[in-house]
This record gives sequence, C-alpha cells and structure tokens, in this order.
Amino acid sequence: MAAPRPRPAPRGPSSKANALLTHRAAKPLAWLAVLLPFAWLFAAALGDRLGANPAEALERGTGEWALRFLCLTLAVTPLRQWTGWHALARFRRLLGVTTFAYACLHLLCYAWFDQGFDLAEIARDIAKRPFILVGFAAFVLMIPLAATSFNAAIRRLGGRRWQALHRAVYAVALLALLHFFWMRAGKNDFAEWTVYAAILGALLGWRAWRALAPATRTRTTPQI
Ligand code: HEM
Repeated sequence: MAAPRPRPAPRGPSSKANALLTHRAAKPLAWLAVLLPFAWLFAAALGDRLGANPAEALERGTGEWALRFLCLTLAVTPLRQWTGWHALARFRRLLGVTTFAYACLHLLCYAWFDQGFDLAEIARDIAKRPFILVGFAAFVLMIPLAATSFNAAIRRLGGRRWQALHRAVYAVALLALLHFFWMRAGKNDFAEWTVYAAILGALLGWRAWRALAPATRTRTTPQI
C-alpha cells in the first residue's frame, strides 16, 4: 500500500501571518515590545518628563498599561477565531503575565508614593475607599492566574480545571473596569473609561455569545 501523501501546507495571508508569528524571533520581539511602556515610564521619570506630579503619572501610567494588556490578553482568542492566526495563542500567556507585572508596578507605586509602605495605612485605605477595595480585589484574583501560568501548573491542574480557574480573568476585567469607573467618577470624566468599557464589553460579550451557541464552537486548546 502506498504511503499517504503529506498534506500540502495551507497558503494565503493567514498562513503567512502564522509563519511570522511562529518565527523564532517573534517571542523575543514580543517580550521587548511589552517592556517598552515600562522603559518609557522609567526613562521619563529619570529625565523628569512626567509633568508636575510624577508620582501620580507613574501610578496612572502603570494602571492604564495593566488595563491595556488585560484587553490585549482577552483579544487573543477572538482574534485567532476571526483571522485564522492561530499562532497568536503563543502570546496569550506572555500578555497575561505582562498584565500582572504592570498591576504589580501599579500597586508598588500606590504603596510607595501614596502610603509610604505603611501596611496598616494601606489596610485602612482598602477598607475605607471602595475604588481601592475593588482594585485590590482585581489584583488578588490575578495572583492565582499568574501563579498557574506555566506548563507544570497546567499539567498538574489538568486542562479543564486550569481553564475553569482562568475564567476568573473575566471577573478581573469587570473589577478593573469598576475600579477605573469609580476613580474617574470623582472627576466626572468618563471619556477614556467609555472606550475601555466598549472594548471589554465586546470581548466579554463575544465569549458570552459563543457560550450560548455551543454547537458552533471548535476547541483545540484551552481557551480563556
Ligand atoms: C491593589 C490593587 C490596586 C490599587 C491599590 C490601586 C490603586 C489605584 C489608585 C490610587 C489610583 C488613582 C491614581 C491617581 O489618581 O493618582 C488608580 C487608578 C487606576 N488603576 Fe488602580 N489600583 C489597583 C489595582 C488595579 C488593577 C488590577 C488595574 C487594572 C488591571 C488598575 C487600573 C487602574 C487604572 C486604569 C487607573 C486609572 C488611571 C488613570 O486615571 O489614568 N488598578 N489605582
């Protein structure tokens, strides 16, 4: 019997994109790219280019970048589905870990510049100001996700349990959005918040729509 012929590799724009995304330089470049906002904030702080209130600029900058990377993390699965660029999945973990890293920097800025690392004062502030409590809840929920973002943890938990745990990212998104809303409500300035709410609404809405239409789903790798 003749040996089965190897299937020809798919051609077209999506296969080119997948080839680029799986290139061995793609991951190192992606790591460099996610470090750029940090490098920019750091250089601006050293060069005294953060305006009249550098502490506030750093605190806000790191909070906003945490939210942006959260949006990018949640955009990976829908983008893979719409474009056929399945190799995007290689970058989801990197984006999730980056979100957590910027959230850590944000918390560090708050603990340092606002509270002078006074833990008792931080605890009082969390209990007193609802928008801090909500931000803190989002951060706490991110910890188990970051702690299980490596292959051994995925193997130990098993795909289903890992996937169930990582659905907490939806709660993180809603809490981060509420945190941002509450913070801006004090200034009656919702322009930027509305943009993030629309993006996260679309990304979470797409998932809800897919969950309600299970027959159309094709799952090959754990999705979040
Ligand atoms: C322990 C957790 C957190 C604390 C204590 C905290 C604290 C703060 C504070 C004090 C501000 C106001 C900064 C200012 O007005 O100078 C702020 C703003 C903000 N935070 Fe958080 N936050 C936390 C978690 C998070 C998380 C997890 C995210 C996103 C994933 C986030 C995103 C933001 C955003 C987007 C802003 C608004 C930035 C702006 O107005 O431009 N925060 N946070």
